[in-house]
Amino acid sequence: MTTAPTTPRGAGLIERWHDHIDVDDDTPRVTIGEGGTPLVHARRLGERLGVELHLKLELANPTGSFKDRGMCVAVARAVQAGATTLICASTGNTSASAAAFAAAAGLKCVVVVPSGKIAAGKLLQAQVAGALVVQIDGSFDDGLVAVRELGERPGMALVNSVNPYRIEGQKTGAWEVCEDLGMQAPDWLCIPVGNAGNITAYWRGFREWHERGLIDRLPKILGVQAAGAAPLVDGAPVEHPETIATAIRIGKPARGDQALEAIEQSGGRIIKRTDAELLEAYAALPAEAGIFCEPASAISVAGLMSALEDGTIERGARVACVLTGHGLKDPDTAVEIVTPPIHCAPNADAIARAIDAAD
Ligand code: F0G
Repeated sequence: MTTAPTTPRGAGLIERWHDHIDVDDDTPRVTIGEGGTPLVHARRLGERLGVELHLKLELANPTGSFKDRGMCVAVARAVQAGATTLICASTGNTSASAAAFAAAAGLKCVVVVPSGKIAAGKLLQAQVAGALVVQIDGSFDDGLVAVRELGERPGMALVNSVNPYRIEGQKTGAWEVCEDLGMQAPDWLCIPVGNAGNITAYWRGFREWHERGLIDRLPKILGVQAAGAAPLVDGAPVEHPETIATAIRIGKPARGDQALEAIEQSGGRIIKRTDAELLEAYAALPAEAGIFCEPASAISVAGLMSALEDGTIERGARVACVLTGHGLKDPDTAVEIVTPPIHCAPNADAIARAIDAAD
């Protein structure tokens, strides 16, 4: 291949990229409209930070997170293999995506989530799609051990990012970033790291296009973990990970080695940010770029901010941050950072007084 495919976005990820991801002619073209998400040039926030800032809106996928990209291929392959039930452990988004694709493909779905530690919207997404939701008194990491075993049972398909087809689907995110930058990689790609599937997928995507000569240089990768759940930065598993960014509350990332490889091969860095630092970026994104993402996603921008401060990333660089999940999934965190609404009588005078008082 010497040029990018010309199938329009919106045809479904498998239809668009079938020649370049691990599917074959018999793989069903399962789709719920995943992929083809916008890359937005966030001029105002970028100017304040001193970079050319692009936001990859993975939150614009049908279930509100990047998981749909990989889930689409994993589920299509599961159907092809004759599976009847999808199973996953999840901090919320994988379960929402698996449940949606199971519904679309007519499969059963079992999701295993840490009790009380997933955002309200994500839990509801799995429930409305008809998944069996199993809450465990344990972490995501405990759940992953259990579902790896259960996924071996006949008829079951494990759809966590240890499933290689997940990575195949998710690598297309890197290709879209390059397309939207005029067939070029950014100088830096900033990405949250939890179970380390997505960073692995993006790096594979960039490398493949580089090998094919579609892009002439590779980006540096900035992986960002939450300070209370930073096994890759700290160099050891975390038994009791804790962070407000529940999506990445993970202490034993399944693809940790591949994440570190991506960092090393790209000449990038893996860093951690505190909850306070990530909340600063979480608030800045809607206020200065109009984009409301979930806390785990904002850590990519929190990482960018600190990498600019310590000189890791140079001012003026072209940077893409992957905004992995939608802010509306987690209203409880948003409520903590907003100004309460003003109560007012229902007439123009009263509202005018309220406007003046607010200035
Ligand atoms: N951002 C969001 C919003 C996520 O939901 C996740 C992972 C990540 C980043 C990290 O991606 O695991 O590939 O390094 N969520 C998983 C889940 C674990 O179960 O929904 P990763």
